[in-house]
Amino acid sequence: MVAMVSIDLEKFYLLLHPRPAYVIGSGVVGKEANLMAASWVTPLAEEPPLVGLSVDVESRTYELISKYSEFTVNVLPFEKIDLIYEVGSKHGWDVDKLAILPSDPGEVVKAPIPRSAIGALECRVYGSIEAEDVVFYAGRVVKAWSDPEYFHMKKGWSIHNNPIPLHNWGRGFFRVGKFHRV
Ligand SMILES: Cc1cc2nc3c(=O)[nH]c(=O)nc-3n(C[C@H](O)[C@H](O)[C@H](O)COP(=O)(O)O)c2cc1C
Repeated sequence: MVAMVSIDLEKFYLLLHPRPAYVIGSGVVGKEANLMAASWVTPLAEEPPLVGLSVDVESRTYELISKYSEFTVNVLPFEKIDLIYEVGSKHGWDVDKLAILPSDPGEVVKAPIPRSAIGALECRVYGSIEAEDVVFYAGRVVKAWSDPEYFHMKKGWSIHNNPIPLHNWGRGFFRVGKFHRV
């Protein structure tokens, strides 16, 4: 404890970064659809398969998820960090973010999946917890996709060619470093 200093509680979450930066798809492709960056995403359960996502209530994404009760969680490669940041710094009311990352609807849900995704989860809202500034959604995963160039069912993401961007703070991203087996 002696070497540590107290930090601002408003920024506690930075201690839990870097975290993978994903792109969330919401709404209905062809009608009203949107994309936003999200790093507050976590697996929640295997049975049923659930994923958790924290969404700012002042976002277009929140508006669309609360309306349609569906979303997608998309893994984009590190090379797309500029575009991930762009969909994470503009609101869908002001910009058509499917023009930034062209997308198609999922197979089961109608929310968008960017064509550049190398992994995607299609989800239906299973439950939610309301805080003051965010809603935490538990999404039931109804379909999962991966690019076999990067992801292997038995080994997971490629060890030597791991492309997942990790968000640290603001415009700062890490890239996955060395792999260690224990
Ligand atoms: C790397 C990164 C991660 C982010 N993570 C989240 C997140 O987990 N939840 C959230 O609500 N906003 C997150 N944001 C902010 C939203 O992406 C941002 O507010 C976006 O403009 C909302 O867009 P929308 O209004 O079109 O939904 C993140 C932004 C970046 C750049």
